[in-house]
Amino acid sequence: MKKSYYITTPLYYVNSKPHVGSAYTTIVADCLARYKRMAGYDVFYLTGTDEHGLKIYQAAREKGRDVKEFVDEVAQQFVDIWKKLDIRYDYFIRTTDADHERSVQAFFQRLMDKGDIYKGHYEGWYCVHDERYFTKKELLEGKLCPECKRSVQWIREENYFFKLSKYQKELVRYYEENPGFVAPDFRRNEMLQRLKSEPLEDLSVSRSSFPWGVTMPGDDKHVIYVWFDALLNYITALGYGKEDDRAFHKYWPANVHFIGKEINWFHSVIWPAMLLAADVPLPKKVFAHGWLTVDGEKISKSMGNAIDPVAIAEEYSLDALKYYMLRDIKFGRDGDFSSENLKKRFNYDLANDLGNLVSRTVQMILQYRNGAVPQPSVPYTEEDKALQAMAGNLFETVNTFIEEFDFTEALESVWKFIRRTNKYIDETEPWKLAKAGDKQRLDNVLFHLAESLRFAAFLIAPFMEETALKILGQLGWDSRTELQKGFDGLKWGEAKGNKVSKGEILFPRKESEGKKDKAVPRANKEKQMPEGLASIAYDDFAKVSLRIGRITEADEIKGADKLYALKVSLGEETRTIAAGIKAWYTKEELVGKYVVIVANLEPRKLRGIESQGMLLAASTEKGLSLVTLDRPEEIFKGAVVR
Ligand code: ME8
Repeated sequence: MKKSYYITTPLYYVNSKPHVGSAYTTIVADCLARYKRMAGYDVFYLTGTDEHGLKIYQAAREKGRDVKEFVDEVAQQFVDIWKKLDIRYDYFIRTTDADHERSVQAFFQRLMDKGDIYKGHYEGWYCVHDERYFTKKELLEGKLCPECKRSVQWIREENYFFKLSKYQKELVRYYEENPGFVAPDFRRNEMLQRLKSEPLEDLSVSRSSFPWGVTMPGDDKHVIYVWFDALLNYITALGYGKEDDRAFHKYWPANVHFIGKEINWFHSVIWPAMLLAADVPLPKKVFAHGWLTVDGEKISKSMGNAIDPVAIAEEYSLDALKYYMLRDIKFGRDGDFSSENLKKRFNYDLANDLGNLVSRTVQMILQYRNGAVPQPSVPYTEEDKALQAMAGNLFETVNTFIEEFDFTEALESVWKFIRRTNKYIDETEPWKLAKAGDKQRLDNVLFHLAESLRFAAFLIAPFMEETALKILGQLGWDSRTELQKGFDGLKWGEAKGNKVSKGEILFPRKESEGKKDKAVPRANKEKQMPEGLASIAYDDFAKVSLRIGRITEADEIKGADKLYALKVSLGEETRTIAAGIKAWYTKEELVGKYVVIVANLEPRKLRGIESQGMLLAASTEKGLSLVTLDRPEEIFKGAVVR
């Protein structure tokens, strides 16, 4: 029987339609779901919409709309947009679903029966946008919400409370016994720190000042608090509390809840406490990812197309959007969705590295072998063997990163392989083999290329299915049937005899970043110079030798509290460089970094050390960052920077 894998996104509020932020979580989760399906798991991928609460109620009322009609309309927009982004979820839950509402009531009743819910009254500062209370101490000046900076309002209500405080010790113990429960580690530590240092207050879990929510069992003047209702979706979607709860037994506990960092407390403290109270096992992991800005700005409605994921997908292709989101933004960290970087990734990684490899390979098989992938034969060269070995390890390598939800490195390792395959063409020079009539060698080279490309296509398939299908199609495979075999079906050596065919260009290059610059008149350019610096001739710039080096050692210098003595390898030589960066980097962080050095600077004595160069770094009053390589690879050691 297949192993199950259950993955969820947050349920998005229906007060506005999806944007780059909600698309981000949904796309990453979708890629993981696709990956796990290809890796042989029985996957259940859940997403949906959060439709109750004061915020939604007010949004509908402000528009003069019937609330149910309003939420139906926006929920449909989510369904439509996810369809356009080809999100393959297994179930879309809405918190207004009658099934869900009944299960929420049953769960609430269960906690009441247990004595974990009691009646009291609450007064405090409430933020409607975040749907939560804050203490006076937490508020910003002017009575603003510390999360979203909006005005809060004083609310006094008779409420029912959940005994959250009762579970504090148990939660701390759970965190300590399950160090992987919340990820990344720094998010776990934030939660644990709070759990250990602040007494947990009981949570108000009902509202009586507005009617839009799940009616509380036993007191119909109250509706259940929107977060209590929404969090339960993760189990109600599986049929928890219903007669037919097979899916619940099959998929729960969830393998991972993907959420944004701002709702970590709800998922990593309140949700587990609710589950502990009901004797339901806790999810295996909550992964709180970072917060995105778009071109450096907070996501806002006025950004229009910049935040419309469908418009971006139409401009660059859906696969390029997905690749960019997973490759460029380190999952877990805050990141910037930058149109400039998206274009760069598109041109460099997709058009150059991958697109060229596909077109070169197909073209050569057409030209030299009439389109048929040749049969290979011994002997194989070291290059052949190395390429095959790298292909053979590709799944393992990628899988290790996926297990850590490190999508950036997972894709980077596929691209290392793609770049290695491109290099293989440069090393083996098939056109020369053809000219020299070396049939056996040329057969082997073309065969190795076709197979390597098939391996690359499989490993990118969960992230860029359309591209994978096109590549396999051009290589002569019945591509959908092939991919359905999953990673288990990936065996080296099957491409013999396939008929390749030329297809469309996978990623037609976008106008390069430099082009626009050329059109800027010279006078204008001079105006853009930083104050006080005159422009210099190109020849002056060319006098500076900038080279890539790899830091191999970092040592303290006696008596110098700002400096490190670094050894920087340029390949054929190693330089000693004294650098004043101790306040910003630990020794461990430095070793292994690829840096840019000014290589022809006159040597200088600093604290008894002859410094043979200078590291480039960006610095402001707030920090310092070394200029490093985007592709930290051996082949760039010693390279000239122009
Ligand atoms: O919080 N960067 O819903 P929500 C990254 N209904 N991710 C972002 C983002 C950004 N700028 N903006 C939104 C809610 N997200 C509740 C959840 S769950 C039981 C209830 C993503 O519509 C991210 O996943 O405000 C974030 O957690 C979520 O959208 C918030 O969606």
